[in-house]
Amino acid sequence: MRMIDQTALPARLTYVKYTRPEQVADAIRTMVVRGAPAIGVAAAMGLALAAARSKATRPADLMKEIEASATLLRGTRPTAVNLFCGIDRVLNRAASASTVREAKNAVFAEVKAMEEEDVEVNRRLGRMGADLIDNGDTVLTQCNAGALATVGDGTALGVVRAAVEQGKLVKVLVPETRPALQGARLTAFELVRDKIACTLISDTAVGHMMSQGRVDCVIVGADRITKDGYVFNKIGTYQEAVLAKRHGVPFYPAAPRSTFDLDRTHDSVTIEERGAEEVVKIRGRRIAPRGIPVANPAFDKTPPELVTAIITDRGLVWPPFGENIPRLIA
Ligand code: MRU
Repeated sequence: MRMIDQTALPARLTYVKYTRPEQVADAIRTMVVRGAPAIGVAAAMGLALAAARSKATRPADLMKEIEASATLLRGTRPTAVNLFCGIDRVLNRAASASTVREAKNAVFAEVKAMEEEDVEVNRRLGRMGADLIDNGDTVLTQCNAGALATVGDGTALGVVRAAVEQGKLVKVLVPETRPALQGARLTAFELVRDKIACTLISDTAVGHMMSQGRVDCVIVGADRITKDGYVFNKIGTYQEAVLAKRHGVPFYPAAPRSTFDLDRTHDSVTIEERGAEEVVKIRGRRIAPRGIPVANPAFDKTPPELVTAIITDRGLVWPPFGENIPRLIA
């Protein structure tokens, strides 16, 4: 398995190669690969590595080995539902096989299907959302919901790319997204590389930019959208939504079907808390005194009343979300 090392961007575009599921679990935990759809497919690939390496001669033994890797991969990051969906899809496919060979082939086929679906789903979602963008608009985003976070064009950035393809002039306002700087490092990398107009701002400039009328809409990705319409996404998304409401700016999360969790309401979702190192240091360099207590929630939860509409590969979902999500997404 070969993928971009996202921790090295934008300084170096390098690829890492993995042969064992434990390496993939480590890569997800340390954010070598990150972004909800990307970690879903990466975890599925981790299971494919487990299947490929297995010397089991009975399907039940192979299943045990794959399930052990699934447990390891499930424990890496708790918030993005795509991770768990990706793992379950592979396990279900493998469980329906009656020989070891059949099970291994089923696992490989499922991973391939997930990869291809993600590309297609991003494209469809992009087209659905592009109609919401007018020529000349400035779109505020958060974190990186682009090609690096998916297999295809991205979700939020997939919408921007589709609008650009339609010939619209679009500018993206990119908050740096402390502490891991996915905006400054990854979204900026993608947009500069694709020659899409963009401006980097500090996270603290978001309110000011909105108050000056310099944001036409907000488009962000999502790690999980519960059936009651709460949107879990990178920390900082909630404050963008509150500010958008204050300034009459539409707020659109963009997410594929695999990001919806129709089994849960918002109060039972775990928000990942990451280590203090990310906050007390910037790219390895200490900026805060030793011993300072730190809180580092990696995601936040935006309530449905702050969401204008959700852009999905199945179309736009409008309020009331509690009714329309189960109806349109099931
Ligand atoms: O911690 P990260 O970088 O994995 O967080 C990523 C995000 O919050 C993205 O917005 C989300 O996963 C959607 S990516 C299409």
